[in-house]
Amino acid sequence: MTLILESNQILLGNCLSLLDEIPPNSVDLVITDPPFYVMNKSNLKFKNRADIIQNAKFDHFETFEEFMNFTSSWLEAVIPKMKDNSSLYVFFGAQYISDLLRACERLNMKYKGILIWHKTNPVPKIRKSGYLSSTELILFMVKGKPTFNFLGQNEMHNMIETPICQRPERLIGNSLNKKGKYPTLHPTQKPLKLIEKLVRISSNQNDVVLDPFAGTGTVNIACKNLSRYCTGMELNPKYHQAAQDRLNRTKINAD
Ligand SMILES: C[S@@+](CC[C@H](N)C(=O)[O-])C[C@H]1O[C@@H](n2cnc3c(N)ncnc32)[C@H](O)[C@@H]1O
Repeated sequence: MTLILESNQILLGNCLSLLDEIPPNSVDLVITDPPFYVMNKSNLKFKNRADIIQNAKFDHFETFEEFMNFTSSWLEAVIPKMKDNSSLYVFFGAQYISDLLRACERLNMKYKGILIWHKTNPVPKIRKSGYLSSTELILFMVKGKPTFNFLGQNEMHNMIETPICQRPERLIGNSLNKKGKYPTLHPTQKPLKLIEKLVRISSNQNDVVLDPFAGTGTVNIACKNLSRYCTGMELNPKYHQAAQDRLNRTKINAD
């Protein structure tokens, strides 16, 4: 089956199989936040504030080799679907960003830079044993000469600052936890403002955008707001349903 990409849709399933249904050379922009093998610590529990989730099932790999095999597999599936002039943004852990960069170069992608997302409200370091983890990196790679809408000089720094996604934007689960509170639905929901910026810069209205690791559907929502088409893919039925509901609730704004 070949997917129609001129819509805003979130598909349930494993992107490694779903990507087969996308025609080659058909995507203008990929923005994705894949599993990146950093959330493998124990969760932090507090008396007076919500637990901090540091362990997510989707981020679990037995070894670095297993993780990089997975990363190479999805890159090999995604990159041929990109048009000759197109862009790829990938959120990734700082410690593995050069591995990701080399894997993209092996697939003939050209390096355009690394953006730093600075979280202005990072998780506190309770034990005061190291620096706060207040940044995430975004690798920017291209094929050919894709769209690049330069905004004002002050808006084009390679560092973007926003708070971590918070309520009311942050999706909340629908079952109470042991403390009688509703926990956040997804541990890594990205702020819409951050994703919208990338969409504005690297695409035009009616372009085709892809996110193979959609989570709560933030890339789909940004594209709906900015009149781009978007296909998201999500393996976990709970996240998929939440993303679909979120997309249905989103009213279309003009760019
Ligand atoms: C880091 S999260 C993405 C969060 C997203 N950026 C957001 O704003 O909500 C990665 C997501 O990829 C999903 N995932 C992991 N492996 C997958 C696969 N093989 N195919 C599709 N989705 C997958 C996980 O369930 C998880 O929701």
